[in-house]
Amino acid sequence: MQKNYNVVAGFNIIAPAYDLANDAMTFGLHRLWRTSLCKLAAKLLPARGSLLDVATGTGDVILGLLKHRGDCHLVGVDPSEGMLQVARDKFAKKAALHQGSIDIRSGDARNLPFPDNSFDVVTISWGIRNVNPFQDGLREMLRVLKPGGSLLVLESGKPELKPIGAAYKYYSKLLPFIGGRISGFMPAYKYYTETVESFPAGAQFVAELFEVGFIKGQYKTLGGSIVYLYSAQKPH
Ligand SMILES: C[S@@+](CC[C@H](N)C(=O)[O-])C[C@H]1O[C@@H](n2cnc3c(N)ncnc32)[C@H](O)[C@@H]1O
Repeated sequence: MQKNYNVVAGFNIIAPAYDLANDAMTFGLHRLWRTSLCKLAAKLLPARGSLLDVATGTGDVILGLLKHRGDCHLVGVDPSEGMLQVARDKFAKKAALHQGSIDIRSGDARNLPFPDNSFDVVTISWGIRNVNPFQDGLREMLRVLKPGGSLLVLESGKPELKPIGAAYKYYSKLLPFIGGRISGFMPAYKYYTETVESFPAGAQFVAELFEVGFIKGQYKTLGGSIVYLYSAQKPH
C-alpha cells in the first residue's frame, strides 16, 4: 500500500476526469451497477422520505434517485470539494428543477454532520473502502438512520467466481494505467486496486455490518461478482 497516501487530496485531483475514467475502466458498466442501488433505494424510501448518500462524489446516486423519487429529500455528503464541485455543476445542468429537494454538504463518513435518527435510507457507493477505519463510518450511518431504516452499500471486491477472479487479476493490473492516463494521476488508481484487494467483501463484510449493530444484512453480486450490493437495516 502507498505510504501516507491522502485519499481526499487524490479525489480532488482526479475529480474532473472521475466519471470519464470510470466509463473507460468499466466500459460504462459502473452506471448500470449504480442504477441497481438507486432502484433498490427508490423502493425502500417512503413517500416524501429522506435519503443520505455518503461519499456522494460527483453526485450520480442522487441524480439516479431523482429519476424515480423526486418527492424525497436527497442529501449528499463528501469531504472532497473537487468531487462536490463536479456534482454541483451536474445538478445545475441536469436537475435544475429539483434543486429544492437536493442538499450537498462537505463532510466525513466518520463524523456525519446530522442528528441521530434523521434518514429513512443511507446509501454509499464505492465509498466505504475509502473510510478508515470503515467501522467508524458504518457506526455513524447506523446513528443517523431512523429506526427500521435501510443501509445500502455498493462496493467493488475480489471476485467470488474463480474464472472471473483470474481474468480480473490481470485486468486490475491495467486499471492504474487506464485511470492514470485519463486523469493524469495514477496513484489514485493504484490506491483503488490495492484497497479492493484488501477490503473485506461478501459474507465477511456482512459480518462487519452485524458487528456494528445492523440487522438483516445480506448481499448480492453484480458484474460476475466484481461488485457487491449489500443491504442491512437499523433495528426498531
Ligand atoms: C470512488 S468515489 C465514489 C463516488 C460516488 N459515490 C460514486 O458512486 O461514483 C469515493 C468517494 O469517497 C469520498 N471519501 C473519501 N474519504 C471519505 C470519508 N472519510 N468519508 C466520506 N467520503 C469519503 C471521496 O472524496 C470520493 O468522492
